[in-house]
Amino acid sequence: MTKSKHQCPFVVATFAMTADGKVTTRELAPVDFTSREDKLHLFRQRALADAVLIGHTSLKRDNVRLGLPAELQEARIKRGRSRCPLRVIISNKGRIDDRLKIFQSDISPIIIFSTKRMPQKTQNALSKKAILHLSDSRHVDLAAMLETLRSEYKVCRLACEGGPTLFRALLERDLIDQLNLTIAPYMFGGAKAPTLTGLSKEFLPASVHCSLTDMRTVGDECFLTYRIKHQRPRS
Ligand SMILES: NC(=O)c1ccc[n+]([C@@H]2O[C@H](COP(=O)([O-])OP(=O)(O)OC[C@H]3O[C@@H](n4cnc5c(N)ncnc54)[C@H](OP(=O)(O)O)[C@@H]3O)[C@@H](O)[C@H]2O)c1
Repeated sequence: MTKSKHQCPFVVATFAMTADGKVTTRELAPVDFTSREDKLHLFRQRALADAVLIGHTSLKRDNVRLGLPAELQEARIKRGRSRCPLRVIISNKGRIDDRLKIFQSDISPIIIFSTKRMPQKTQNALSKKAILHLSDSRHVDLAAMLETLRSEYKVCRLACEGGPTLFRALLERDLIDQLNLTIAPYMFGGAKAPTLTGLSKEFLPASVHCSLTDMRTVGDECFLTYRIKHQRPRS
């Protein structure tokens, strides 16, 4: 599937990975193996976007608010933008706990893409705190979600903050445009610790080619920027 340049936002994924390719531990523990510089890098990428996207498992595990430090909020306002990007959550099953920290912060609207599998009680609770897009199908259609973000919310640049399951699903559909990858000076080992593309033993439908557009090192960390070469040219 190829997305039309006019219909979808530019999707930038940002991840930190160990030198042996792991993005988290077997227990899916919250990610804390990178420096302050890397955390600032993630915030800067978030600040550049109109919306930030996260998978339900990462949201649950890391219990993040997806906000920005005050100085980056001020810088956005000076550029004539909203204080913080829109916050977008994706879940097929929709069993999202409305007590998560993200729902206690009102720095920007929250949009949830899920399905009608979301229990009615959860729909009632979440509809007070977020805008719900619930589809009839069992799975969220990722391309349709991106089109909605572009057409209804004017999202031109979307920061995808994982996790690997969501990243892989977007990659398989050729919906990622840029990958920011921090290589952290650790190795975790373990077949059950997810890699950048998750735990699946399957190959991607086609190998994804990347073009390295930037590289810098700070201390023992390496910050890479790749442009993803699309499988078919955009219309
Ligand atoms: N190192 C890093 O930079 C980094 C970045 C982000 C996350 N992480 C780590 O990654 C781990 C979690 O990753 P994960 O791969 O297990 O989970 P994930 O990608 O964060 O979330 C997976 C869940 O999101 C929903 N989802 C994903 N793809 C979807 C799709 N195509 N359509 C609809 N819903 C979709 C589903 O929710 P439902 O189950 O509700 O249907 C799915 O179970 C955490 O440990 C986190 O700390 C690391």
